Amino acid sequence: MNIGFIGAGHMGSAMIEGLLKAKTVDPENLFVKGGSSGTAEALQKKLGFQLIKDYEPFKTCQIIFIATGAKIVLEILKQAAPYMSKNTILISVATGHTIEEAQAVLDKDIHVVHAIPNTPVSVNAGMIGAAFAKNMPNDTKSQAIHVLESLGKVEEVSENILGTFGTVAGCSPAFVDIFMEALADGAVLEGIPRALSYEITAQMMLGSAKLALESKKHPGELKDGVTSPGGSTIKGVMALEKNGFRYAVMDAVKQANS
Ligand SMILES: NC(=O)c1ccc[n+]([C@@H]2O[C@H](COP(=O)([O-])OP(=O)(O)OC[C@H]3O[C@@H](n4cnc5c(N)ncnc54)[C@H](OP(=O)(O)O)[C@@H]3O)[C@@H](O)[C@H]2O)c1
Repeated sequence: MNIGFIGAGHMGSAMIEGLLKAKTVDPENLFVKGGSSGTAEALQKKLGFQLIKDYEPFKTCQIIFIATGAKIVLEILKQAAPYMSKNTILISVATGHTIEEAQAVLDKDIHVVHAIPNTPVSVNAGMIGAAFAKNMPNDTKSQAIHVLESLGKVEEVSENILGTFGTVAGCSPAFVDIFMEALADGAVLEGIPRALSYEITAQMMLGSAKLALESKKHPGELKDGVTSPGGSTIKGVMALEKNGFRYAVMDAVKQANS
């Protein structure tokens, strides 16, 4: 299968890395068109995909991703549309447009998926929300889901909640990174070497997330399992509450979504 890609910035490059790592596509079957800053060229040197300057190779692609900035996505789709073949699946991970708006600038036979991934797709551990055009046949939808699942977990959602989904799944990695950095700073403050502090916090987060997913236990129940009466963890919990931890996190989601 040939896959086309428009835009190899933060999200585009994360997806390209994930697709190649999962062997969903081989480098010689992945056709990437970048912008003007040289980012795509630098990535091509690292990953060896086919760097293209025009949309001609898209005629051979079954799936085409677009990962450009929100303001230019429809204009670029208009330019690329003549090079998409009948029954191409177009997966837009760009914000700022709807499936209907994309369909309006594309040929009617092109199937449109609007997906919002997050950067962990680069290590095939993404969380991807996907909305599908109403008229998409089931086998086409399955094909799109199959490709997206090679990048992480996929949840089908209606397009009207895709924005908020993107805030929680797409912005939160930055919140978690800050939390991880702060935890590591705390560890350093208490005398643990810097590199070891990052390793401890990252592995702890991975393990906590895995436990939550696999046990399906409520987060409160998992927290209760760590907080023994009069113990050190509950003292730390009180310090977090005193400093408005929950409010800060909820407000971060609200502000990011506004
Ligand atoms: N970052 C995330 O975590 C995330 C999560 C979910 C969704 N998204 C959405 O994904 C889209 C991309 O976000 P991003 O963070 O990856 O932005 P970005 O880093 O700015 O990447 C956008 C890329 O589009 C390229 N581009 C511009 N014009 C182009 C053209 N005519 N042909 C091909 N490529 C072109 C740019 O290339 P040059 O710079 O070389 O010109 C740039 O590398 C946005 O709509 C964003 O809302 C992002």
